[in-house]
Amino acid sequence: MAAPSVLMVCLGNICRSPMAEGILKRKARDSSLVIFVDSAGTSNWHQDELPDERAMAEMQLHDIDISNQRSRPFKTADFDKFDHILVMDSSNKANVLSLARNAKDEAKVHMILDFGSEKKGLSVPDPYYDDGFNHVYELLDYACDAFLDTLK
Ligand code: 4NP
Repeated sequence: MAAPSVLMVCLGNICRSPMAEGILKRKARDSSLVIFVDSAGTSNWHQDELPDERAMAEMQLHDIDISNQRSRPFKTADFDKFDHILVMDSSNKANVLSLARNAKDEAKVHMILDFGSEKKGLSVPDPYYDDGFNHVYELLDYACDAFLDTLK
């Protein structure tokens, strides 16, 4: 069977989803799991930009380099390319679902914090304005562990 594929989605694709991409890639590697992981934004506001400096610095604290990533917008073709589309908040979810063509597309979309028992239904807060990058890291670290458990 083909390796599972996962797309992390936030608004700008410079803070939360690049961090989620980096964390899941690291965890998959550490568990010897082959997974294709990418990320995208529901906006094109930062297209081709590096992740936010603060996101890169937080990830460096955890020895994860995300400086190879570049922002890109989510597109309808992503529903064909990815098995799992994990969004950070309810606004991301509504924006992604507005591009879904059918129930199969819709079924791929999940709030990332719905994985694990602690934070179901909640959003990963946008750290762009309030600098909460460490909190975002902790939330994503927990959720990525719980998501990986569903693949094992
Ligand atoms: P992200 O954060 O969605 O986690 O990448 C944001 C990045 C940029 C903006 C908002 C949120 N912005 O308004 O430019």
